[in-house]
Amino acid sequence: MKKLLIASIAVVLVGYLGISGIAYVHDKDYAERTVASRAVSSQALGIRAVLDRNACYYCHSRKAVLPNYAKLPGIRELAEHDRQTGLIHFSIDSLYAALESGMPAPEADLAKLETVVSERAMPPKLFRLVHWTTGLSADDRRVLLDSIASQRHTAYATPGVAPEFANEPVQPLPNYLATDANKVALGKQFFNDTRLSVDNTVSCASCHALSTGA
Ligand code: HEC
Ligand code: HEC
Repeated sequence: MKKLLIASIAVVLVGYLGISGIAYVHDKDYAERTVASRAVSSQALGIRAVLDRNACYYCHSRKAVLPNYAKLPGIRELAEHDRQTGLIHFSIDSLYAALESGMPAPEADLAKLETVVSERAMPPKLFRLVHWTTGLSADDRRVLLDSIASQRHTAYATPGVAPEFANEPVQPLPNYLATDANKVALGKQFFNDTRLSVDNTVSCASCHALSTGA
């Protein structure tokens, strides 16, 4: 009985170490290959190197090739579930596509990434139990947060915003928007024009009284 117990513990331990070993080799190879094989801008490269090294693609890229052990019963269900949920919340493929085309990443992606980096929420704990080398280091976090701040600054900060608000995920409204007087006049005319209704009796203004903010 005791021998059986020891034997089972040994089997589980060997399985765990084996899987972690395969994961280590796979992750290292993947990170080296992806970073080396594509022509990316230096801004994209910084982000990409950190995310690939931390194996974020497992659950956030549709293109990811997972190691073979991910097909084992039990592990497969877990991986599928993580990937399905992960992909709904955040896509690394669209982040990379934006960066590689020289465009800033979508504003919402930057905000989500900033949150998980600041809260050290990713990769999930269970995943790190097998993928020992993953987990964002202080340097990794700084690379990501600096890059998020610089993209936000160039692409999304409200012009003239006070420096302490320039890196806010939700930017203050501008004090002033450039408008074209002719377009404003045309809009006003449409807004009050009853011909926009089926029977020529109702305009936007019938329901929306601008003076009351309705
Ligand atoms: C094992 C799968 C897995 C790995 C690996 C993983 N994630 Fe996630 N990620 C998820 C899941 C599941 C969710 C959605 C549920 C949640 O937030 O826990 C998520 C959510 C997110 C979100 C969205 C958060 C939001 O507010 O909607 C971001 C951003 C993210 N992950 C970034 C990362 C980064 C960066 C890495 C690598 C450092 C990473 N993930 C690694 C599974 C994973
Ligand atoms: C018959 C009444 C009626 C007319 C006519 C009408 N609206 Fe509205 N409108 C509403 C109501 C009620 C809401 C709020 C709907 C809601 O919050 O679900 C609304 C909402 C809106 C919103 C806010 C939508 C949002 O996502 O918050 C805008 C903008 C708007 N209307 C513009 C217009 C314009 C422009 C016209 C004319 C082309 C117009 N409306 C005509 C009743 C009307």
